[in-house]
Amino acid sequence: MTDRLLDALAHSASRRYGGEPVSELAHSLQCAERAEAGGADPDLVLAALLHDVGRYAVDPALVLDSTERESAAGPTARGHHEIGADLIAPYVPVRVAWLVRMHADAKRYLCATEPGYHEVLTPASRHTLTLQGGTMTPEEVARWSAHPWLADALRLRKWDDQAKVVGQVTRPLSAWEPLLRTRFG
Ligand SMILES: [Fe+2]
Repeated sequence: MTDRLLDALAHSASRRYGGEPVSELAHSLQCAERAEAGGADPDLVLAALLHDVGRYAVDPALVLDSTERESAAGPTARGHHEIGADLIAPYVPVRVAWLVRMHADAKRYLCATEPGYHEVLTPASRHTLTLQGGTMTPEEVARWSAHPWLADALRLRKWDDQAKVVGQVTRPLSAWEPLLRTRFG
């Protein structure tokens, strides 16, 4: 599974990250480095590295909310966060899969709770927000606000939002192989 993920990540270098000016791979590497620099534990770093695995490692017909792929979405398509979480769930702690599953809802949560957050989202991110259900309702916010892992999900979301810097130098994908091997063999 590690080899499969490394291969999918390597191929994601040739794909643009949604409507953003960086590649899928650059986005993932930037997100993981931001998590590490922010003092995240290894599983939170792993979730940051793989949070978009449902965008680049699965059949496009299964993905509902990808900006380039809307026309490819089939009748059973779901959000990339759901597909990605299901893909890695057999291999990782429940918290890691939950964080991947939650990264779209974390944006919806922040739009409802953090003044000014929606305004800093890029146009592409605002577009997928609508595909993912829009700003959370007060009832949804109340349901999630006591979750013990919510703070991690919100930190991951901020790193995700920031990991779109054109030309940012990161360590290569191979630097993350040991971390992937700890969970995926
Ligand atoms: Fe992302």
